[in-house]
Formats: sequence, structure tokens, C-alpha cells
Amino acid sequence: MTKKLKLTELLHGGDYNPDQWLDHPEVIKKDFQLFKEANINTVTVDTFSWATLEPNEGEYHFEWLDDIFDRVEAQNGHVILATPSGARPRWLAEKYPEVLRVNEKGERALFGERQNHCYTSPVYREKVQTINRKLAERYGQRKGLLMWHISNEFGGECHCELCQAAFRDWLKNKYQTLDNLNHAYWSGFWAHKYTNWNQIHSPSSEGDYTFLGLNLDWKRFVTERTVSFFDMEVEPLHEITPKILVTTNFMGGNPAESHVFYDLDYQKFAKHVDVISWDSYPNWANDYESTAELAMKTGLMNDVMRSLKHQNYLIMESTPSQVNWHPFNRSKRPGMHEMGSLQQIAHGADSVMYFQLHQSRGASEMYHGAVITHNMSDQTRAFKDVRQVGNDLKQLKKITGTSRQTAKVGIVFDYDNMWALDDSRNYANKTKKYWRTIQDQYRYFWQQDIPVEILSVDDDLTPYTLIIDPMHFMMSKNFATKLQDYVRQGGHLVGTYITGMVDKDFLAYLGGWPSKLHDTYGIEFTETDTLYPTQHNHIKYRDEVFESKDYCDLFSLDSAKPIATYQDDFYAGDPAVTENKLGTGKAYYLGARTDADFLNAFYSQLSKELDLLNTIAVTKQTSTINVQVREDEINRYYFVINYSHKKAEVLITKDLMDEFTNQPVRPSTQTINGYGVKVYSEMK
Ligand code: GLA
Ligand code: ZN
Repeated sequence: MTKKLKLTELLHGGDYNPDQWLDHPEVIKKDFQLFKEANINTVTVDTFSWATLEPNEGEYHFEWLDDIFDRVEAQNGHVILATPSGARPRWLAEKYPEVLRVNEKGERALFGERQNHCYTSPVYREKVQTINRKLAERYGQRKGLLMWHISNEFGGECHCELCQAAFRDWLKNKYQTLDNLNHAYWSGFWAHKYTNWNQIHSPSSEGDYTFLGLNLDWKRFVTERTVSFFDMEVEPLHEITPKILVTTNFMGGNPAESHVFYDLDYQKFAKHVDVISWDSYPNWANDYESTAELAMKTGLMNDVMRSLKHQNYLIMESTPSQVNWHPFNRSKRPGMHEMGSLQQIAHGADSVMYFQLHQSRGASEMYHGAVITHNMSDQTRAFKDVRQVGNDLKQLKKITGTSRQTAKVGIVFDYDNMWALDDSRNYANKTKKYWRTIQDQYRYFWQQDIPVEILSVDDDLTPYTLIIDPMHFMMSKNFATKLQDYVRQGGHLVGTYITGMVDKDFLAYLGGWPSKLHDTYGIEFTETDTLYPTQHNHIKYRDEVFESKDYCDLFSLDSAKPIATYQDDFYAGDPAVTENKLGTGKAYYLGARTDADFLNAFYSQLSKELDLLNTIAVTKQTSTINVQVREDEINRYYFVINYSHKKAEVLITKDLMDEFTNQPVRPSTQTINGYGVKVYSEMK
């Protein structure tokens, strides 16, 4: 059952570590004054305070946390209470070394750093449940308790004997017999047949690391192990506080690095979480891509997170100024903080939260941006920026409970496929770039203000007018059937090069493409030409010639008709892009990778045909402006954001209200300042 977080206001706040300041009560007192000044209504506490809560085994100290609850409640605020498992105290590792992770070479880690415990260790599980239970018993009934925040940024893997045994059990359960497993892994290859379950070992650079089926199963297992640890943490909380929802902070990484978080299948994990929250750290002031390009990638990451449950989500962490872990930790330019913060709200976030509220005085994050910095003043640029966003969120209170406009366009993204494609010894490692391909497919829609949902293979496709399914190298027969049903019933599908090569066991499809794919696209795949970075082909589409690069799929036509053809090489004149009618729908196959010029031409044609263009009351003159819409049954809110330092204009075509000035806006041309944000509203 989906549980929805019922909020009465947008959340503004972040990670707070008062346990670092217990001998400075004046600091804590001042912090709360400054929180009030910046409209901070939420604190996430306890994430890393296990050593303060339980300095020795079984000896608990909660007074300081009681005091924080008192202070928050006195300001009518909320506490998001974290469970402390992300960083264990030293005594615990000293007494029970099994809680420490073992790497793929079989070496057990020393105590150190954080988020590196074994997910299987029964002792760790027991200790975590005990402390979680204590927290739930003590704070479960507090008025200020809003949510549980389980651990911190789950990730990584452990190869200890306990985990190996759990992996073997997981495989036994999946395959039932060794014969089945041997067949799925094609283990006759290099004489790798298993004759005993105990011979199975996790992938390792010291052992098997090119055993594709094993690698993929291990990644699937790591997600399930992590989720089982998460479920174990939640157990006592659900028992004692059944009404309090749980979240855990997912990672978005640095979107400019062009990868979605890689370790865990968040689509699977999301099913166990009540509310999605994530940590968003775009490097807004970088020197290698435009603010608008980065905003497109960040917009996509927000869409990924919202789409995990197709409902509003929380930004659990972001930085008020800069981080300390990007290659260059540049501070935001004036205006960028409000721009980036409200982008998240525009995509369906109900919070702007920070790491961190008060900068730590020492240790590795002492120079990470914070709301309250070492000079503890309300006059810093970061503090003023945060206060501004606090005011904005207060003014936007009435959008709490509204959702991002429903999308007609869905892009399929699949974790198994990402892992398998990257691991496949084929193509070119440098240019596979599944995530970059998703970004490339998303760009046109973002630039045209057309909302997009990111879909898993388990999602229902039927609500969407257009489904884009890029580079779906590993595709199950079931999903191929689902695509075909979707098209037959009137859907429009776009697939691309490198699709439908292997099944879910990582075994090649025998006898060509699965028949469902063949019938859907009306073509028969023959080969993929992998180009070197300096090599190109060209495709001709609607009398224009576009460059193609990296991958050119070759195929023969069956019922499909070509709508673009290759221009060069031995396949000059062959089809490059095709269209196939099936039932009442159509399926397009983009055989070649191209630049944005072709995708813009192709998708603008399709958007006209399918009536996808968003007819909204705000039209922009430049693609650095982006408009996202939130709405409920009564009102519609246009978030108009300028992702450039240059001011730009938008055309308002209806009577709207400016939500920040509270003034009506007549149909007119309006100027949006550099990095500026406007929120206009209308009654529907
Ligand atoms: C992560 C962690 C935080 C902090 C920030 C710094 O998101 O969850 O504890 O280390 O990074 O950016
Ligand atoms: Zn382990």
C-alpha cells in the first residue's frame, strides 16, 4: 500500500549535529534563533551520533536529544529522526569485528570512515535493532517527530563469509538446482562448471570477474541484501510507531558526472520505502557545461526520483553554498541557490533541506557549505540565500500537496540493463554511456517544457502517449511482449540501437531478435557497427543530413518503412531510422546514435503529430528558461526558471498571479532575471 506523507507546509531545514556542540550550549541556543530567522522548520538529527547515544555497550544518553526535541517543538518544527547505523561506535567494531566489511580480496577492513558495515552480520543487525527500538520508544510519541530516516546513503558491498553464505542461499532459492545455475551462467565456458554450491564465490579481481551472469546476480543480490538490512531496521519502528513513515536518503551523485547512482537498484529499493528522499549536489558554477545543460541533467535526476513512486519526494540534502568533494568546490553565484532550490520544488519535491545546518568545526567536512558557518553570522551570503529560500517556501505554502503535472511521455530506465550493458564485453566501453543516452533522449522534452516520467520495466505503460526505450540491451521476453501490447493498443514507441540482445540470464537470444520485438519494430536486427570516436556516418531524414556516431545498427526491413537512411560506407542507402504501424500504434527504431540536432528534428515532428507540446500559459523565447508545472484539481502553478546569468523574456498568454509579489499579471511579456525564478498561478 502506498503511504503518502501528509504535510501542512513545505519543509526547509537539514542535517543537524548538535552532539558535536554539547559543551557549547550557547551555540545550540543561537542555532535555533538563526533557524527561526531563516524559516527553518525541520531538522534531521542523529545520523551519526551513535557514539554519543551509546558511548559504551548498553549505556544510553538521550538527555541531549530530548533537549533538541523540546527546542524544535517550541518552534513548531519537525524532527526527521535518523537511525544511527551509518556510523557505528568504536567499541562495537572492537568487540564484534564481524560488523566490519570484507573486500573482494577477502581482506577485512579496519575500523574507520562510515557506511561500511556488513549487511549480513547478525550481531550488527541485533545492535541496530536495539538502538532503533530505544529511539522509537523514547521519541515515537513526540509531537515533533515527522519521519524516520533510516541510516545514511546505503551503498557498497561486503564479501565476508556470512555474506558469501547468504549469496549462496539467494542463488539456491533463485535457481533451485546447480544445473539451472550452470546453464544460466553458461559455465561450461573455460571449464567453470559448478559441482557444489559451496564453490560459489562473489565476483573478485582475484577470482572470477568476467563471469557475466555471476556479476549481474551479485549486483542483484547486493540490492536485496541492502534492502533486507533496511527492512530489518524498520521492523521495530513499524511495530512501535506504525503511523510514522520511513525514508532513506538516496544518492543522485553529481549529475555533471553523467551517471545515476550505480550500486543499488533504486527501483527495487523504492518499493520498501514510504517516501523517496535524495541528496542533490549539482556543481552549478562549473566551467565545462552551461547552467542550462546541467539544469537539464538535474531536472532529469529529480524526475528519476519522483518517478520511483510516481509521487512527491523530499530533497534530504543539498548545499547552501559549495560542497567539499567536487573536483573544484566553487561557491554558487548570486541567485543560483534560489534557482537550484526551486527547481526541485518545481519537479515535485516538498522540501529543500541541506547538509548541513551548522558547519562542523573540525574533521573532514569542516569546510563543506552550511547554513550557519564558522563565523556564526546571519550576514553571510549563504545564510541570506537560505533565508530567501525560506521566505519563498513560506510564500508557496499553498502548493503543499500539489503534484507535478501528469506526463504523457515516459522514458524507460532499467538497472539490470545498465549493469549488463556496461559489463558486456562488446561495443566500446568508452562510448556505451547508457545514462548519457537517457539524458540525450530527455533533453528535447526538457527544453520544450514537456513533462517526462522515468519508467521501470514494471511500470504500466498505457497512460503514456509516447514511450522511449533507449539502448535496451538486456530485455526480458515479458517486457518485449509488454511493448508490443502497448503499441498494438495505440501507443507510440521509440527504441534505439543496441536493443534486445540478451535475456535476463545474460544469455544471447537464439535465432535473432525475440519475435515480439521483430513484429513490434517490423525489422530484423543484423549487426551493430561500433565506430571509433573520430569516425562518423551520416543519415538523411526529411531531406536533411545529420551526422551519426559511435553506434550504427544494421537491420533488414520487414513491415517497417525507412524514414532515414545511412549515407556512407558499405551500408550507404540502408535504413537507419524506421517506422512501423502495428495495431493502432506505431513503433520507431533509431538505428544510429546522433547529436541533438537529429533528435530535435525527430522529436519535434513526433511531438506535433502526437500533440505533446505543452499548451501552457507561459511561453519562453529561449531554451535556457524552463517551465515546470505543479497542480491540483483547482490551481495550476508555473515555475519559470532562468538557467542563465542573462535575463530573458517569457510571454504570458492568460491572466495569472505572481505568487511572490501577490500581484495579478496580465497577458504580456515579462522579464526573468539571470538565475531568476517566478512562480505564476491560475485557477483551472
Ligand atoms: C552525503 C552525506 C552527508 C555529507 C554530505 C556532504 O550526502 O549523506 O553526511 O557527507 O554527503 O556533501
Ligand atoms: Zn558481510
